Amino acid sequence: MRRSPYKICLKKQIDVAKFTSDIITQQLSKNKNSVLGLATGSTPEQTYRELVKRHLPHQKDWSHVRTINLDEYVGLDKNNPQSYHYYMHFHLFNHVGLPECNTFLPDGTSSDPISEGQAYEQRIIDLGGIDLWLIGIGSNGHIAFNEPGSSRDSRTRLVNLSDQTIIDNSRFFEKKTTVPTQAITVGIATIMEAKRIILIATGKKKSKAIYAALKGPVGPDCPASFLREHPNCTFVVDEAAAILCRNNFV
Ligand code: PGA
Repeated sequence: MRRSPYKICLKKQIDVAKFTSDIITQQLSKNKNSVLGLATGSTPEQTYRELVKRHLPHQKDWSHVRTINLDEYVGLDKNNPQSYHYYMHFHLFNHVGLPECNTFLPDGTSSDPISEGQAYEQRIIDLGGIDLWLIGIGSNGHIAFNEPGSSRDSRTRLVNLSDQTIIDNSRFFEKKTTVPTQAITVGIATIMEAKRIILIATGKKKSKAIYAALKGPVGPDCPASFLREHPNCTFVVDEAAAILCRNNFV
């Protein structure tokens, strides 16, 4: 088995998107019934654009693919343009012929987040587990909305967003006070059970988190550091994100 995480540094953000969409396309060619774990945020947007481009000429068949997303804001319904439901349809689902019934995100409007979390975990089990999970990283080292302090055995649950995440994500909202303060997120244990994980990061703003994930202690201070214990995880970053630990990357 190769060493995990495998670390790949590419020149620019677009190279990360092309490389990552090639990996996902290969996964779908290998198994058209794949269960993909997906992420939101600005980093995967370009990857989704590349996937849509690859879908168009060859009509790669997404009709049997099932998707599970990492998280959803509490209090935003599916039709809210800031919700991750809306994001996924806007950037990917509507363009690749993925049946709505094959796509799953936590329900941020659930009145019973505990049952919602348990049902989401059960859903992943019923789908047979995640074949490949695409994830991003927060500037504070979070993965999904598992903020610093999250435990290795955490599962899908209601969480409070950290001040740093609220500040970082306020760029998507009219003002900071309208950013939701809670989310339903899969846990670190949920992510670690995926057969394969691809973490993508671009830009200097992520360089400290990438350094902490790869060079700091493995533990809850930097949730992404737990990925070092996964047997098949790849970090795909651009030069700016790798700047503090360039020598660690191929
Ligand atoms: P970003 O978010 O892609 O918008 O930077 C990543 C994350 O918070 O996981």
